[in-house]
Amino acid sequence: MADISFSVNGNPVSALAADGDIPLVDFLQENLNLTGTKFCCGIGVCRACTVSVRRQPGAPPEPMIACSTPLSQLRGVAVTTVEGVATASGLHPLQMAFLEHFSFQCGYCTPGFLMAAITLWERLQVSPIPAGDLDKAIDDALDAHICRCSGYVLYYQAVRAAILEQGGMVVAP
Ligand code: FES
Ligand code: FES
Repeated sequence: MADISFSVNGNPVSALAADGDIPLVDFLQENLNLTGTKFCCGIGVCRACTVSVRRQPGAPPEPMIACSTPLSQLRGVAVTTVEGVATASGLHPLQMAFLEHFSFQCGYCTPGFLMAAITLWERLQVSPIPAGDLDKAIDDALDAHICRCSGYVLYYQAVRAAILEQGGMVVAP
């Protein structure tokens, strides 16, 4: 069978078809030295390992749990990890908001919260929602994530503030 080809943060990568059972988080950390995506529960519960993916160009981004996604499911997929969020001009507005709102303590859950929020952010840029629906949209995006330092409210506040300050992602009801 052909190698497994996909991209990570815009860079083409490939893995042997024989390695198709390896979880994405292991490949990121051990093959690409991208250690920002965190391994925690390993069974798809905590969401610390969340990355953002597009299944094809132009498709809406969606969150993916890297601990429970084998490489065999990634053919042709574009993966974005926490390392791919900031640009040469600086941190993403959501990263700045996490800092300004003191959203995290130990920070172990932060890449997962960030990538879920980034996915929501990118979807809203293409498909704005009524302002009255924003809280539910944030809840839907972040609700399943676990923060053992219990920073939930500060994450929610940061995401909400960043989206409202950016403009254009929510519209009048
Ligand atoms: S480490 Fe992947 S969901 Fe917990
Ligand atoms: S900041 Fe420590 S687990 Fe969330």
